Amino acid sequence: MQIVVEHSEALQGEVQVPGAKNSVLKLMAVTLLAEGEYRLTNVPDIADVDTMCDLLRALGVTSQRVNTHELVLVNTGNITPVAPFEQVDRIRASINILGPLLGRYGSADIAMPGGDDFGSRPIDLHVMGLEAMGATFALNREGVQATARQLHGAHIELKFPSVGATENILTAAVLARGVTSIDNAAREPEIVDLCNMLVDMGAQISGIGTDHLVITGVQPEQLHATDHEVVNDRVQAATYMSAVAVTRGNVFVRGARAEHMEMLINRFSEMGVMITPQHDGLQVSCNQRLHAIDFATLPYPGIATDYKPLLVGMLAVSSGTGIATENLYPGRFRYVDELMKLGADVRIDGHHAVVRGVEQLVGAPVNAPDIRAGAALVVAGLVATGKTTVSDIHHIDRGYDDLVGKLAGIGARISRQ
Ligand code: EPU
Repeated sequence: MQIVVEHSEALQGEVQVPGAKNSVLKLMAVTLLAEGEYRLTNVPDIADVDTMCDLLRALGVTSQRVNTHELVLVNTGNITPVAPFEQVDRIRASINILGPLLGRYGSADIAMPGGDDFGSRPIDLHVMGLEAMGATFALNREGVQATARQLHGAHIELKFPSVGATENILTAAVLARGVTSIDNAAREPEIVDLCNMLVDMGAQISGIGTDHLVITGVQPEQLHATDHEVVNDRVQAATYMSAVAVTRGNVFVRGARAEHMEMLINRFSEMGVMITPQHDGLQVSCNQRLHAIDFATLPYPGIATDYKPLLVGMLAVSSGTGIATENLYPGRFRYVDELMKLGADVRIDGHHAVVRGVEQLVGAPVNAPDIRAGAALVVAGLVATGKTTVSDIHHIDRGYDDLVGKLAGIGARISRQ
């Protein structure tokens, strides 16, 4: 199966932003913390959710999609805290079971997590935080074995605001004895979503949305299952916004939340994209060739590394030269070779990409190297002459809910074949 994109006219109409992959997978993991039935709504229809369902099933949490965007998970209390390689290898977010398993069951045996391959993705910050709370780790090439008779609160300062480490320390601290504080915590909207669900379950967390989280441990019987609506996906929203920008279209991106994307909206505006926030989404339009800008990826509220392939694709067709600096994953420029097959003029220098805008991209066969880069190649294909065929689309399917259908719905010439 491939995605075939043909040169498309200005996109028009309305597109709905689905729930966030990087929230729902973490929300699913915290069902390990308390018995009962959980109902998640606004669940994206993506392959990673199915993988997480398989992983949770192997541990003892059952799940059922009651409709395309609603998932019911049941924790009967019969949990085996051992996660086999076949399930763990497929997604990075499988590491998110570590905190809940340690906090609730005092042990976790997890094969090494997989996910996108853009260089080394260590878990030293997860380990450092959980060790400070009393956990003991045995790590080897095969995986992680962690044990803790009873976790206790600790003051933890992260040297980098890692999303995954913040989440694992947070979810472990919910049932730890005493108070845990996390300084320099990550504060992405998806972490706020996770905190909100945990609070609904009975957890005591303050500082939500800031870089200083304080968690006061509660007893297991004080936690209970809950229902929760997944926050909308700012990266999928950005994907549709960039598609509108390059095709010089005019689309209402329903469910895009300006308060989650302020920096990105500013960068888009500097490039010449008009964005008008409305109460339930963003009106996005562009009637000119984009202008090049320089940008650097940073932890939230900075420009997310997940937006970068989209911005580099936009620079590829802008007037002028822009420099993209990657500060999170040095290896996350591999997709540039694919973009160059479409005629983009990009030079990589360390963790910088120098992008000289060209008048016209040219359709060609390309491979999706990871989720976000795959989507960016699809967007670039909308403004390449002729036909662009994107292969390895299982990467895109991991994180995008009906990318092809949604783009077709606003006028793109695109199909799966
Ligand atoms: N890092 C460490 N030690 C650690 C943890 C992280 O050095 O213990 C480093 C990483 O190597 C990396 C940086 O810190 O250089 C950022 O890692 P972080 O832990 O913040 O990222 P993550 O939790 O592994 C999540 C998303 C990624 C997204 C990053 C950054 C999920 C499942 N994944 O990964 O999303 O790029 O945050 O925002 O939430 C994607 O959705 O396509 C994706 C890759």
